[in-house]
Amino acid sequence: MRVKITVKKFNPDVDQKPYPRDYFVEAGRGMTLLSALLAIKAETDGTLTFRASCRAAICGSCLMQVNGSQKLACKVPLKEELEHHGKIEVGPMANMPVIKDMVVKMDSFWEKIRAVTPYLVTQEGKEVPTEALKGLHENLHNADGCIMCMACLSACTSAEVSPGFLGPAALAKAYRFQADPRDQAHVPRLEALQGPNGIWDCVRCVFCVQVCPKDVRPMEQIVRLRRLSIDAGFSDSVEAKHITEFTKVVSEEGRLNETKLPILMTWGNFRKMLRIIPLGIKMFLHGKTPFPFKRVPGRDEIRAIFKYWEKAK
Ligand code: SF4
Ligand code: SF4
Ligand code: FES
Repeated sequence: MRVKITVKKFNPDVDQKPYPRDYFVEAGRGMTLLSALLAIKAETDGTLTFRASCRAAICGSCLMQVNGSQKLACKVPLKEELEHHGKIEVGPMANMPVIKDMVVKMDSFWEKIRAVTPYLVTQEGKEVPTEALKGLHENLHNADGCIMCMACLSACTSAEVSPGFLGPAALAKAYRFQADPRDQAHVPRLEALQGPNGIWDCVRCVFCVQVCPKDVRPMEQIVRLRRLSIDAGFSDSVEAKHITEFTKVVSEEGRLNETKLPILMTWGNFRKMLRIIPLGIKMFLHGKTPFPFKRVPGRDEIRAIFKYWEKAK
């Protein structure tokens, strides 16, 4: 079967902008996209440039955009991809400067990883009893499975608009060490993740979870880091307050009370309170603010769930 592969070619040294080029390969049984690209490079166009090494979805080198999604080329069965999308279009991963064709500059990715202290920090004389390590692997929630392929950062909507955002891979890596009882840098690492470009900048679009080839589920690790931050006392930011007050309102009233939450969030800050009054009036006029004293059906059941959860913690 003859398959057309359209590659977004680009060499910034000579080309004004990227352009598509069609290649044709004879797709053998079980052929992967990477095997096809290697065949094209060997037989048709030696200038075609991409990274690859293990050919087994282990090294993370061959990540590229395939039909608009971030994929490891060695994990893409050519025929199935064609059947599913009706075409094979390949290009470099998004959110990264292109060096040539599918090869992108990875410096910013590694800087982000380095910024989270991605290793165990130990202290001499501070032994951790073996007992404390029981269940460690489960508690890492797959965060240790990352192969640094950059699919998540490339798909991240937050990184797209804020290039400084630490991003899903680095934050998942941070969680990997926060969850490890042997690590002695829990507080400084968490502290470094507060503020702009840190854990609160994730907009929970779930794209990083969808594209990760190793099921690291970076967004879930970010949510865990947020929880650990609040538990460690980093609760003054607007985002942390939103979570704690939101939970408080629901646990007391059995539902979100749009009248009460903004008041609790801005309590003690007169200027902030003044700023939200016009929005509050608009919401009231559109019937979006519940009567503060109206009891919702099922409230006691919700309270009971929160009480049970508090006890179980
Ligand atoms: S869930 Fe958060 S970290 Fe993941 S891709 Fe979306 S914005 Fe980025
Ligand atoms: S978290 Fe997943 S998608 Fe992101 S770099 Fe690691 S393996 Fe790749
Ligand atoms: S070549 Fe190693 S992951 Fe694809």
